[in-house]
Formats: sequence, C-alpha cells, structure tokens
Amino acid sequence: MAEILGLGMTHYPGLMAPDEDRAYPLTRTLKGNKNIPDELKNPTSWPEPMRIEYGEDEGYTSSLEHRARLVAGFRRIREELDAFNPDFVVIWGDDQYENFREDIIPPFCVLAYDDFECQPFAHRQRNFWDEPKDKVFKYKGNREAARTLVSGMIDRGVDMAYAYQPLHEPGLGHAILNTLLYLDYDRKGFDYPVVPMLVNCYGSRVIRNRGGAVEYLPDPDPPGPSPKRCLQVGAAAAEALKDSPYRVALIASSSWSHAFLVEKNHWLWPDTESDRARFEELKAGDYQAWARISTEQVEDAGQQEMLNWMCLAGAMDTLGHQPEILDYVESYVFNSNKCLAIFK
Ligand SMILES: [Fe+2]
Repeated sequence: MAEILGLGMTHYPGLMAPDEDRAYPLTRTLKGNKNIPDELKNPTSWPEPMRIEYGEDEGYTSSLEHRARLVAGFRRIREELDAFNPDFVVIWGDDQYENFREDIIPPFCVLAYDDFECQPFAHRQRNFWDEPKDKVFKYKGNREAARTLVSGMIDRGVDMAYAYQPLHEPGLGHAILNTLLYLDYDRKGFDYPVVPMLVNCYGSRVIRNRGGAVEYLPDPDPPGPSPKRCLQVGAAAAEALKDSPYRVALIASSSWSHAFLVEKNHWLWPDTESDRARFEELKAGDYQAWARISTEQVEDAGQQEMLNWMCLAGAMDTLGHQPEILDYVESYVFNSNKCLAIFK
C-alpha cells in the first residue's frame, strides 16, 4: 500500500537572479510592455499596497522580504520531504513552449526519462548562488514508476501522454527545474527521482505568443485543460499510485494569478481578489470548488498556472488529505501571489 504526501509551492523565476540586479517582473513589464497606457506607468495610479511595495527603490527592500518568506517555505517543504523520504516525486508544472510546441501540444504529458541533465544558468548573466554559467545539475528520473503511473491513469479513464526523451528543450523546463533548484536552495543535493507531469497551462496563448503573454496576436489556440479535468487527472494519479507499493510525494509547482496575464489590470498586478477566493477555498479543504471554475474565469484572473495546483487538489481530495498552509505571500511587484502548503 502506497504512502502519499502532498506539497504545494512556486517556481517563481525571480528568485534565480540576485535581488540587487533589480530584474523584477514589474520593472521589466514597465519597460517592455508597449500596451500599458502611459498614465498607468506612474506609481500614483497604482493600488496603495503596490506603491508601498515598490517604495523608493523599485521594490528592492520588498524583494528581500519576499525572498525570505519563500525560502523559509521551501526549507520547511524540504524538511517535510526528507522526513517522508519518498521513492520518487511527481511534480505538476507548466510547459511554457518548452516541449509543447507547434509539432504537438498535449494537455498533459508525463516525462518518463531515465535522468535529466540541466544547465539552468547557461543563458543568465548572474545567478543568486553565484554558480558557474556552465554548471550542470543532474537529476534521476524513474521510468518504471512513470510507467506504473501512466498505465494506472489510463486504466482509470485518463489517457495520459508520456515521453521517454525531450522533443525540444533538453533537460527540464523552467517549472520543474526551478522547483528542484528551490527545493535544494541550500545545495545539499536532490537525490529523489523525479517524474514530471507537465500541464498545458497556456492554452489559447501557447503558440500564438510562444508561451509568453505580452504580445497579443490574433487567432487564439484551443484552450488548455479545464480546472475540472485537472482535478480528475490529479484524482486518477492518486488512485493509480494508491495501489502501488511506492512512497510518493506529489508536488504542485506554480504561483497563482500572474500579473503579466491579467489584462484587466493592464498586466501590471495580479488578480489578488480571485486569488484570495481560491485561498479561502483551499484553506477550507473545499477542493471541489475549483472544479466549478471555468477556463474563462481562469484566463480572466491570470490564474492559468493554477492548473498545476488543481491537479494536486484533485489528488488530495481523493486521498482525504487536508492542507497545512505554510505561507500565503501576496505581491503586486513580483508578478504573482504565492502559496506554500503541505498536505497530509
Ligand atoms: Fe511557470
């Protein structure tokens, strides 16, 4: 009989750069997004908490606290993971035009690789850890476990796609790789085999915007999977693993509403009201509330990446695991609101 632990976190890319580089999402958006009306580039037009967070230093002071809270959560999650000592971890993360490209866009795909070799800093000027640009991070996969998972899901009515090798991006895309780097923030190594389950979170914007969201081109792509389907997928994964002999950690990795996806806020700040509503539902353990959210609602709120958490919610609902919230970090300047949680 399997044992399963649930974990929820973020792969917010902003932590990869040193804070003093001030390469914050808002700074980039203000400089790079030509669709933002001039008057909204002036902090006096922003919500008050955003002005305070931005402060006199483009958010530098706030960035230190933002990092400290997230890192405290990552360390707690890592402690929990080490105490649990899983045979492998399954990570739900978004493929943002990394392997899901013009040649095929599955709604989900399990990466059943033997191992992953990644160079996360190859295209970065500097990184927070001051590690060499060409540093290689190696992670173990688990083909056998991935096969068991996929077969079990197919048995339970979810026709899961899988891959034995990358189609485009070598190693791992940002969602999974950042998660592993943050789970090993103190660089003691990460030896648990990894089974990524990628989710097409960018649906109608994945091809036309090449995974990004700043330039709006016509002709939307078909949507990503619905919240309801994500809960079903998570439930099927939990059911499939429940009957296995494994100890498994199921990890959802993503921030919630992303400013750069929220048109109604001129791509400047996230939809904090919607995130608060989702947070109350999560805290109450009302996972099925998320199944009633439409794709239109998700896209309006910029919560596309929450589909990763919705998969986890489906799994936790099936297992009867309740959330323990470690932190809920709201931010206007650092692109997104973030939740850190453990589910037992
Ligand atoms: Fe992402």
